[in-house]
Amino acid sequence: MHHFQYQGNDLYGEQVPIETIATAVGTPFYLYSQKTLETHFTVFDNAFGQLPHVTCYSVKANSNLSILRIFSRRGAGADVVSGGELYRALAAGMPAEKIVYSGVGKKPQEISYAIEAGILMFNVESPQELELIETLAQKAQKKARIALRVNPDINPGTHPYISTGLRENKFGINLHDAVAEYKKALQKKHIDIVGIACHIGSQITEVGPFVEAMQTLRNLVSELIRSGFHIKYLDLGGGLGITYKKETPPHPEQYAQAVMQALNGLPVTLILEPGRVLVGNAGILVTGVLYTKQSGEKNFIVVDAGMNDLIRPSLYGSYQGIQPVRKRAGKKIAADIVGPICESGDFLAKKRKVPAFEPGDLMAVMSAGAYGFSMSSNYNSRPRIPEVLVSGDSYYVIREREAYDDLIRGEKIPEHLKLNEQKLN
Ligand code: LLP
Repeated sequence: MHHFQYQGNDLYGEQVPIETIATAVGTPFYLYSQKTLETHFTVFDNAFGQLPHVTCYSVKANSNLSILRIFSRRGAGADVVSGGELYRALAAGMPAEKIVYSGVGKKPQEISYAIEAGILMFNVESPQELELIETLAQKAQKKARIALRVNPDINPGTHPYISTGLRENKFGINLHDAVAEYKKALQKKHIDIVGIACHIGSQITEVGPFVEAMQTLRNLVSELIRSGFHIKYLDLGGGLGITYKKETPPHPEQYAQAVMQALNGLPVTLILEPGRVLVGNAGILVTGVLYTKQSGEKNFIVVDAGMNDLIRPSLYGSYQGIQPVRKRAGKKIAADIVGPICESGDFLAKKRKVPAFEPGDLMAVMSAGAYGFSMSSNYNSRPRIPEVLVSGDSYYVIREREAYDDLIRGEKIPEHLKLNEQKLN
């Protein structure tokens, strides 16, 4: 369910014609619907009902401050994976005591920053990281709360780039070493063991892998409790999938039911780290058609958004729906939708049946709210595009389009390169 629907022939974001926004801000741009974001969060969070839980929105999916604010106003915490994400979450007003910090490569400065901020817990991914957290917490004369992120060795049945809970993946601590690591952590004076964590992958479209992960963690927690540990938080990570094309992922309520059933009354506070399921279908990318051309049998539609703006099709071969912002009569054609970047891998869709778009038309690339802007880059020296939030009959630019000046900010030409050409030999 989302609020990008046609009224007559025109695609709207909530109550605003998308064409109106395009005329005002130019193309391309990202457009998010506040109502969709709020509904998604509420449905997800309410699905866990009275069970003690914290929904820690996974900032990497879309880290715009306004998006973070929309969730934090409704009680969300955050899952961060870098000092930068922690900075954003705090800047948006997320309470530190609802922030969890995952990631295999936390740097000393980042760890110290999070200790100072007083986050809920570090999801520790290696014995060496645990050592470093102990050292830095001691320096800060504080105790750092931690969970060990275990790798439950479960196949989530998703794209190999986004499956994370297999033994061959770089994430987490091997299940069989977990208890020993907890015992080592117990010896550390500046470490406060508070939880256990895992994350098995992303865009998971069935409940089975989550249930399996939960069972694995539950068994481990029972064992830890028997050994005298107090495990307050169980963090199941994120990963619930969405419909891009015809996938039928479980509804958040089904997911929550299955998870709670597998939890089986274990007395813990559940932590969830949803990203895509909250923002994916709450955002679209609006792009303008520049040219159309044929090469033999092939039709190309050249648009002004490229792989630097939305890399998912190029990187994962992902499917993103393509819709005209104004419906056009006539026969559909099969076309590749390609961007302006100098790479053959720069496409948004391939061999897609679409209306016969013409130069000047606007196109909506659907399901682009997650891992869209947050994975965008300046490749080909393209300024990053604006992000716009629509709410009812109003819209707001929540991140401005970058200017050429932004592209060279921080760059410097050293003195010796400023010499005149004559002096070269
Ligand atoms: N927690 C941890 C520790 C994670 O690594 C991730 C995602 C999440 C939560 C949120 O997962 P979600 O609920 O969004 O599935 N760029 C890829 C997805 C990479 C996901 C990385 N980790 C894509 O565009 O499909």
